[in-house]
Amino acid sequence: MHMKIFLIGFMGSGKTHWGRELGKKISIPFFDLDEKIAEHAGRSIPEIFAEKGEECFRLMEKEVLYLLTESHESFVMATGGGTPCFYNNIDYLKKNGTVVWINCSVDCLHQRLINEKEKRPLISNIRERELKTYIIKKFSNRKIFYQQADIIINEDDINLEKMLGRIFHE
Ligand code: S3P
Repeated sequence: MHMKIFLIGFMGSGKTHWGRELGKKISIPFFDLDEKIAEHAGRSIPEIFAEKGEECFRLMEKEVLYLLTESHESFVMATGGGTPCFYNNIDYLKKNGTVVWINCSVDCLHQRLINEKEKRPLISNIRERELKTYIIKKFSNRKIFYQQADIIINEDDINLEKMLGRIFHE
């Protein structure tokens, strides 16, 4: 059976963690899109943003997304928080596989991102007291893309069994 599962959601929603777990459980490869972009570019994500800018990062993100998707039959992929929100990536994802949105609350994202700002160029320079406002604003802009997922997993239902149940039965 061929299956391509794309996990989408805001920074800090746990895409990488759950993607790795899902891949292990159903024995298909796991890809972290950010990691593959960094490999492709020979630079870290913060370096790409600093040296080339966000626009260039978005182009590379699209290119690596297409390359990976087209060269593998089955995988679970953790996309970046912005992946479905640029170009027509959300349509591309939906056309090529099952799109799962891990929907965490702003409070939960905020708690996690306070401690994980450094490797995320979009928030690394934002002061701690301004972080929540930033998340609320960005999240509300991006929701329109995330909502187009085939499957929406809400914070309280995030566990491996429930996720698998939804992916295989819907
Ligand atoms: C981004 C999220 C990051 C990474 C880049 C931009 C975003 O991925 O792709 O820093 O636009 O939300 P994570 O969602 O894995 O943090």
